[in-house]
Amino acid sequence: MSESKGHVLFFPYPLQGHINPMIQLAKRLSKKGLAITIIIASKDHREPYTSEDYSITVHTIHDGFFPHEHPHAKFVDLDRFNNSTSRSLTDFISSAKLSDNPPKALIYDPFMPFALDIAKDLNLYVVAYFTQPWLASLVYYHINEGAYDVPVDRHENPTLASFPGFPLLSQDDLPSFACEKGSYPLLHDFVVRQFSNLLQADCILCNTFDQLEPKVVKWMNDKWPVKNIGPVVPSKFLDNRLPEDKDYELENSKTEPDESVLKWLGNRPAKSVVYVAFGTLVSLSEKQMKETAMAIRQTGYHFLWSVRESERSKLPSGFIEEAEEKDYGLVAKWVPQLEVLAHESIGCFVSHCGWNSTLEALCLGVPMVGMPQWTDQPTNAKFIEDVWKIGVRVRTDGEGLASKEEIARCVVEVMEGERGKEMRKNVEKLKVLAREAISEGGSSDKNIDDFVALLT
Ligand code: UDX
Repeated sequence: MSESKGHVLFFPYPLQGHINPMIQLAKRLSKKGLAITIIIASKDHREPYTSEDYSITVHTIHDGFFPHEHPHAKFVDLDRFNNSTSRSLTDFISSAKLSDNPPKALIYDPFMPFALDIAKDLNLYVVAYFTQPWLASLVYYHINEGAYDVPVDRHENPTLASFPGFPLLSQDDLPSFACEKGSYPLLHDFVVRQFSNLLQADCILCNTFDQLEPKVVKWMNDKWPVKNIGPVVPSKFLDNRLPEDKDYELENSKTEPDESVLKWLGNRPAKSVVYVAFGTLVSLSEKQMKETAMAIRQTGYHFLWSVRESERSKLPSGFIEEAEEKDYGLVAKWVPQLEVLAHESIGCFVSHCGWNSTLEALCLGVPMVGMPQWTDQPTNAKFIEDVWKIGVRVRTDGEGLASKEEIARCVVEVMEGERGKEMRKNVEKLKVLAREAISEGGSSDKNIDDFVALLT
């Protein structure tokens, strides 16, 4: 470790899909000499933890909820979360400022705009770090600015939405919180509020890279001081010139990854396995889980499916046992996804199109079958299919259900169809661009260096 140049606080939104890209950026900044403290708002107190390989310490602060309350209570009672977490964050920063190495900056997730106000009041340099892509965040921005009225009934009034730098978006392509009177009215306010005080941020970072969403990025760059610093996938998967990344302990995952899956993949031919995973939060309906299981079985390909404990009972009875007995498939509770995607046996990735999964597939050159469920995923899926052309999106019926025939058709198309071959070529090209961006001297790496220079 080089000598510490400065101390930076990170304040991720307390969801795994938002914490992971914060941790990955923290690791990069720590390799460039900064001391890092990650602050996690939680109902559970944990003792501070310091990583030995990085000068990164993780602290929890109280979010106003209690251990017996449902983990999702904080997403419903937003006022309680915001008020309590604001107080805890103010106390934490105030006491950190009295320490031997007082923090200079706060990097916060714009899902919590109150963090910006607090850090400004306490004279910190304030950095908004978007862990979701511009292609979703800017839709929220434009809707907030009144540039587009999302119809109340998206299916009865299926108008196309037009935003600068975007392809035309159908109602199904919009992020799910776009509609004020839709299924997630609270979350609509929550996501559009990201922009309420953004102009006061000293710097804006995003986990994307300039070449990935160039038109959208250009529009954003003309307006705000943006630095794209992604994809913040661990460097060992991207660029051998960067120091080895051995540390997975900070991933804060409650489930131990099942390493035996790599052994299982080792016995499969190249590009023969369908990898299925829906991230850390999505919960498919029982009907959708069954259709997906039957589709995967119907295609006849080998498959690896990461199914969280809470989702397992939705699979058809005997599905796991039969797959394992006949050795055509493996269902694991949690897999080391990056190692899996990097494995030569993987032929395609059936995914909910969460932004981390999308960037990981892209960095490792794996074409996708998109089954987006909510939040930014529909818009990510639109770009995957129509802009980058690195995958297909399954179509759903009026109830939002994708049939087994439709899922199987998409999987076969990606695995062995003519379009699948094109997708593989396209994803290889993006893989190269992603690696260039984050490698030494690439656009994202330079942006990280410029940013570090501002703090030293
Ligand atoms: C959430 C939102 O759903 C997503 O749309 C948003 O862009 C980020 O926040 P999540 O649903 O968890 O994220 O999906 P995703 O962004 O894909 O992140 C999942 C992470 O978990 C990935 O980094 C993936 O590598 C990891 N993972 C998942 C594993 O390591 N093992 C698994 O078995 C499954």
